[in-house]
Amino acid sequence: MSDLSTIRSEALSAVEAAADLAALDAARVSVLGKKGSVTGLMKTLGALAPEERKEFGARVNQLKGEIETALEARKGMLSSSALAARLASEKIDVSLPVRPEAQGTVHPIGQVMDELAGIFGDMGFTWAEGPDIEDDWHNFTALNIPPDHPARQMQDTFYLPPRADGTPMVLRTHTSPVQARTMLSKDVQKMLADGGSLRIIVPGRTYRIDSDATHAPMFHQVEGLVIDRGTHMGHLKGCLVDFCRAFFEIDDLPLRFRPSYFPFTEPSAEVDIGCSWKDGELRIGAGDSWLEILGSGMVHPRVIANCGLDPAIYQGFAFGMGIDRIAMLKYGINDLRAFFDADLRWLRNYGFSALEMPR
Ligand code: DAH
Repeated sequence: MSDLSTIRSEALSAVEAAADLAALDAARVSVLGKKGSVTGLMKTLGALAPEERKEFGARVNQLKGEIETALEARKGMLSSSALAARLASEKIDVSLPVRPEAQGTVHPIGQVMDELAGIFGDMGFTWAEGPDIEDDWHNFTALNIPPDHPARQMQDTFYLPPRADGTPMVLRTHTSPVQARTMLSKDVQKMLADGGSLRIIVPGRTYRIDSDATHAPMFHQVEGLVIDRGTHMGHLKGCLVDFCRAFFEIDDLPLRFRPSYFPFTEPSAEVDIGCSWKDGELRIGAGDSWLEILGSGMVHPRVIANCGLDPAIYQGFAFGMGIDRIAMLKYGINDLRAFFDADLRWLRNYGFSALEMPR
């Protein structure tokens, strides 16, 4: 019977010694597996006399039960400590700062649009939009450019197939058609009739058949429109002087208003800002040279009438400029085409942080 007690103490100490679940399983196999020590004892039962078998069999069974209980107990302990170890090793320190995400950048055109919205927003302008695919009437006729008017040749237009009802369609050549769309809106007409004044900027895409380092067939303009009962050329001038100085961040930036011609304004003026050239490098600010940046004028009475308002009551001013162009000037970008190449290296270099506050 010393065999039995040796097997018992060896088995129990193997169970106790098992340091993890794999070692415990190995201990189980060495005792209760096919070739295990207790299994071996079971196998000897057959050879015993019935009386002996009964008595020894009971003791072997009891031993087996005892070892199984020890195995269960050890297993419970090892699994909870395995869990505790995992919990300890996989602990997440939520107070650690997060890893920085790869960040995209704001395209210079988006940035400049935000800046425009900020500056003109401070002057009471709101943001308006219109369709890129425009009908001939809004793009030209409403703006006092009737069919066969030579001014239609000022812009190389992409013509589109006419609508089913025969309406001639174009890709808008400027943002000016949104002037007409806005003045024609019932809400705006009511607001004006109630004594309000209209102030909008219209940033958006425009299209002309043109392509070189400073022209792309798709480009961006911002239109401005003010309509009320008392606006005059002095307001136009003050508004554009304030805008240019704020946008280029030069308080004493000189501006020059040159008489010009646009069919939709009378009188019309082109606006230049002061600049100088040094070693082929452009510097914006007081200097010996001028750079044209926008077109403007008092809204032509015929445009006001075309848009359903009485020009004897309402008047205002309008202006239009190239967003890409002022972005290039402000941020020293030489080739317009790079704006639209979607080259990540270019965007990382010229893009803006999304958290940079627009002015
Ligand atoms: N629409 C003109 C163009 O694309 C720009 C322009 C000039 C707009 C004078 C205006 C304006 O509103 O008053 O060339």
